[in-house]
Amino acid sequence: MPGNQRRLFFALWPDNEIRQGIVQRREALGAAGRRRVPDHNLHLTLLFLGNQPAERVAGIEAAVDDVSAETFRLRLDRFGWFARARVVWLGGEAPAAAQALVADLARVLQPQGLNFDVRPFRPHITLFRKVTRRPDLPDPEPLEWPIREFALIESIPGSPYRVLREWPLTR
Ligand code: 2AM
Repeated sequence: MPGNQRRLFFALWPDNEIRQGIVQRREALGAAGRRRVPDHNLHLTLLFLGNQPAERVAGIEAAVDDVSAETFRLRLDRFGWFARARVVWLGGEAPAAAQALVADLARVLQPQGLNFDVRPFRPHITLFRKVTRRPDLPDPEPLEWPIREFALIESIPGSPYRVLREWPLTR
């Protein structure tokens, strides 16, 4: 990757307690032959920007200062598998406030003229990668996650994800 590109995404970043709750639920699935996402990287993606020129980061952050969205609760109550992405995840329904946050992020970033795809928002935390067949997935004990902020994250190959900045949601 050219040195002046940065791989970025917006995400919900769990605190230690929620992270432990995710890890506990993941343990219920065992490990056999699957590539586990390291505990410190577990997150829920809101909007994936992909590679962006480094000099655009300040503009992205300034634009996101205009996001106006309210706190909400996420109930993570199901495991699932995406066949194309070959990932097993923990997820749940997207409450209207979560959809509104994603839509507002896309709205404020639009004038930045960045090149990125907006995919339908399906709240999920990837637990395992390279899962080629749907495993048997039990129902998890639901995890209630109060969302009070969101984060801009950088993905650097071979390193833990890096939280570049967090923004509070309004009460
Ligand atoms: P995933 O967990 O479902 O693979 C960092 O790569 C994060 O961005 C991951 O949560 C990943 O989702 C997500 N991601 C990667 N590529 C993406 C894409 N093209 N569109 C949307 N999200 C993507």
